[in-house]
Amino acid sequence: MIDTSGTNMVRFPFRPRHGDPLTPHAVSFPDGIGQVELPTGQIAWLVSRHEYVRQVLRSPDFSSDFTKPGFPMIRALPQLPDGPPPGMFIRMDGLDHARLRRMLVPEFMIRQIRTLEPLIRETVVGALDAMRAAGPPADLVESFALPVPSMVICHLLGVPYSDHTFFQERSRIMLAWSTPPQAALAARDEIRDYLDKLVRQRDGGEDLISRLAAERVATGEMTMEELAGAALLLLVAGHETTSNMIGLSTLALLQNPRQMRRLREQPESMADAVEELLRYLSIVRTGLTRAAVADTEIGGQVIKAGEGVIALLSGANHDTAVFADPGDLDLTRGSHQHMAFGFGVHQCLGQPLARAELRIALTELLTRLPGLALAVDPAEIEYRDALIFGAHRLPVTW
Ligand code: HEM
Repeated sequence: MIDTSGTNMVRFPFRPRHGDPLTPHAVSFPDGIGQVELPTGQIAWLVSRHEYVRQVLRSPDFSSDFTKPGFPMIRALPQLPDGPPPGMFIRMDGLDHARLRRMLVPEFMIRQIRTLEPLIRETVVGALDAMRAAGPPADLVESFALPVPSMVICHLLGVPYSDHTFFQERSRIMLAWSTPPQAALAARDEIRDYLDKLVRQRDGGEDLISRLAAERVATGEMTMEELAGAALLLLVAGHETTSNMIGLSTLALLQNPRQMRRLREQPESMADAVEELLRYLSIVRTGLTRAAVADTEIGGQVIKAGEGVIALLSGANHDTAVFADPGDLDLTRGSHQHMAFGFGVHQCLGQPLARAELRIALTELLTRLPGLALAVDPAEIEYRDALIFGAHRLPVTW
């Protein structure tokens, strides 16, 4: 529990919980809203109640544009650009956001993702076969959790998987809080330049980048720079999040053997199990950052235009008013109200893909490695201090 009763300002982001890193910190702002101090010295509002998190995320009074006054910065940027980088629609508001998102929505609809399932299964089985052929022990992150979503997003976008070391290393640098701002920007620019080149070389393939180049850039609906920016967002979001979810979900199941056994016996309950794992782990632990662009009341507090807000998804997903005993993993709970994918207009575009990957990866893992176990003491596992929570390595045996 984070103590918010003293006179000292609560510091944010919270570090992983000592002794119980899998479940996020409970925040005890009595009213579900309070103020925190960020590493940049900035003071921001933190909302942790399910109701308030929804309120913030669905309101146009809170901007996603990090160049707006008061936007909560966890890491200081050397200088702010005039607006969000081209194509980076996760950081745009209103019509700019809607225009770019609309062009990508059809690519990530459930129906479209269903056509990808055979490829996802083939990728998952291939990674597990390679692990079994090499024999135990193995690092589940390196051998399974990271390559599977990376291969799938590469296939979808038309990015050569042979370049995975290049973009995986740079996206890890970009997202780690310990990276100095200049180095984080340099890492981002390197992936961007790489994608920029790739986008310009496209000539009529079936992948998403080629199709958008032919159907949207050629018609003037999107610029080349926007396509490269959107590809960067999809490439990083498409492998970092799901990879950490696969790793931590496996760990959570290994630590709850009765529930893991039940899941093996009833594989048809995997879709529900995935929702509970998303809620329980809430890997976007730093929450979602917004800047107020109009005075708004949340939970009896007036948040003024120009003040920063953090909508703590892990707080919402562990709110006792919505989820009984939220710190317990209960795969039968039916966690349909969780906000692990956010809420409102920016709600995760890739969620059908993430769900399919998690469902298939965990099903095949449990089926094909029936003796799966941790190869180290859980206390030895090191966690990432980054925008997305995860384990660096997960040594397993079977
Ligand atoms: C378990 C895995 C995932 C989690 C937990 C997750 C979580 C999130 C969250 C919380 C947001 C909201 C951000 C905000 O409101 O500021 C988001 C947005 C987004 N996600 Fe995911 N995500 C996952 C997987 C993916 C995948 C696989 C892709 C792409 C292939 C993806 C692409 C995106 C994009 C493009 C956005 C921005 C949407 C917009 O601004 O309209 N995500 N994600």
